[in-house]
Amino acid sequence: MQAQRRTVFKLAGAGALAVSAPLGLTACTADSTGGNARTRTKNNRQLRVKKSDIPVGSGVIYPDDGYVVTQPTAGTFQAFSDICSHQGCPVRQITADHRIHCLCHNSYFSVDGGKVLDGPAPYALTPATFEVQGDEIVVKGVS
Ligand code: FES
Repeated sequence: MQAQRRTVFKLAGAGALAVSAPLGLTACTADSTGGNARTRTKNNRQLRVKKSDIPVGSGVIYPDDGYVVTQPTAGTFQAFSDICSHQGCPVRQITADHRIHCLCHNSYFSVDGGKVLDGPAPYALTPATFEVQGDEIVVKGVS
C-alpha cells in the first residue's frame, strides 16, 4: 500500500514539473512573437483589498492574483484581468500619469474601463467580477 502512495506522489510531482516548466520558459524568454506571454485567460482567484488602498484616479496591480483594481473617480471601483490583450503579457506598471502599462510592447490602458490608450493591444483589459463589501473590494474572477 505504501509503495502505491509513493508512486502517486512521484507522478504528481512529475506532473507539476511538466506543467510549471513551460510556464517558466514562456515567462522568462522573449521570442519572435513577443514572448513573455502567459496563456491564462480565466482566473477564479479571490482577492480582497481595502478600498483605501486604491488611489483615486489610479489603481493597483496585484500580480500574484492576476488583477488590476482601479478607482477612476472617488468611490467608484473597477477590476480587470492583468493580462494584456496584445500577446498575453501581464501588465506590470501604473505610470505616473495613471495609465496601466504593459511593458512587453508598450501598450497603455485606461484606469477607467481598461480601454486601450496606446500601443498594439487590440482591445481593453478584460473586466473582472467584484463586489464592494463594506470597506473592502472582493474580486472574484475573470471568465
Ligand atoms: S503583450 Fe504586447 S503590449 Fe502587452
